[in-house]
Amino acid sequence: MRMYDILEDKAAGRALTEAQIHWFMDGLCAGTIPDYQTSALLMAIFLNGMAEDELAVWTDAMARSGDTVDLSAIAGVKVDKHSTGGIGDKTTVILGPIVAACGGRLAKMSGRGLGFSGGTIDKLESIPGLRTDLSRAEFVRLANEVGVAVTGQTADVAVADKKLYALRDVTATVNSIPLIASSIMSKKLASGSDKILLDVKVGSGAFMKTAGDGRALARAMVDIGRRSGKETVAILTNMDRPLGRCVGNLAEMQEAYRTLQGCGPADLTELCLWLAAKMLAMAGRGSFDDCRVRAERSLRDGSAAEKFLAFLAAQGGDTRVLEHPETHYAAPQERVVTAERAGYLAVASAEDIGKASVALGAGRLTKEDAIDFTAGVIFEASPGEAVSAGQPLCRLLAADGSRLAEGEALLRRALRVDAAPPAPEPLILDVVEA
Ligand code: URA
Repeated sequence: MRMYDILEDKAAGRALTEAQIHWFMDGLCAGTIPDYQTSALLMAIFLNGMAEDELAVWTDAMARSGDTVDLSAIAGVKVDKHSTGGIGDKTTVILGPIVAACGGRLAKMSGRGLGFSGGTIDKLESIPGLRTDLSRAEFVRLANEVGVAVTGQTADVAVADKKLYALRDVTATVNSIPLIASSIMSKKLASGSDKILLDVKVGSGAFMKTAGDGRALARAMVDIGRRSGKETVAILTNMDRPLGRCVGNLAEMQEAYRTLQGCGPADLTELCLWLAAKMLAMAGRGSFDDCRVRAERSLRDGSAAEKFLAFLAAQGGDTRVLEHPETHYAAPQERVVTAERAGYLAVASAEDIGKASVALGAGRLTKEDAIDFTAGVIFEASPGEAVSAGQPLCRLLAADGSRLAEGEALLRRALRVDAAPPAPEPLILDVVEA
């Protein structure tokens, strides 16, 4: 077989055969295919797309290109959850304790944030002492004993994805639905869960800017899951505004705790309850409606908040930063951004809110950048709310005060005060199932 012929087929829009895909993935991992030919193939896929069968075989070959994780030592049906990434998305750390308080389990490998979108591992590491490098034995033990365990990538899963992603990043081929779908699903298929729940974010603060693209990505991933024998459900949710009121690692963990105590913002609470109920139902723990009632009860009776503290402590976290912030939290420098006129708060670009938080120190532009866990943006008013001139809209936080000016400039670009209230937008846009 020759790479030249594979390129010629894909450039002409023909679907690759199973044999061609396996030959390519083997060569990619063995390092025998030059980067210029892999890049050319990525561009041909970017331009011509992939057929459904072809994408399923391609994704399966990626999933088998590295280690596959065995979660069989964890009791019950394992449901993995993945978000395509957004601003202020702290759902994993909230729904894990809800699921655990309702008798389910969340054993999850998560990643770090890059660019305007945050990552669960960074949020967790904002709790002093918390470890995200759990050994396999610890991961399994904590999942069974506590009900929630979240670790960084312990195994070298989907090695082909790392190689392909690095080339996509420099060849303007990241933004392709089959390439994104296979990248995400190859890692999910290799991660050992029985079922997969996906939260596809749509809007100005997400990879997918339109509901049409979000739906196409969701459909592609659900089809890949079905063809691999793993029930996969995707929910499409609004990311034209941040989720909740806090953006920034420690601020998000504080907001997660308040949400688990039943005092969180309505949008964040609603999404976490929906996802938790769906995870429990997929794990065979009752109907969606029954699971939803139990999830709501866990917020009211304190059991979910208790699980949250137990989960963080079990991974070595000092939870006094959440429980006693007055004595265990060194407040960073702060700047209040106020409304320049009266009207209704609107978000012009959720992505710019993410960029403001990165400028404040909460995120990284390159993988090597250090993070200021205390940096971030805390909203004092919600999008759609009536505000008066001079009213505080948000507080900017940064340990390094010299970052506040750039953060403010980006934040002001991200927000508007309109004369009329914005049309209300649903949080959950659609649910895509096989
Ligand atoms: N997340 C991934 O893991 N891969 C992509 O290609 C895009 C988002």
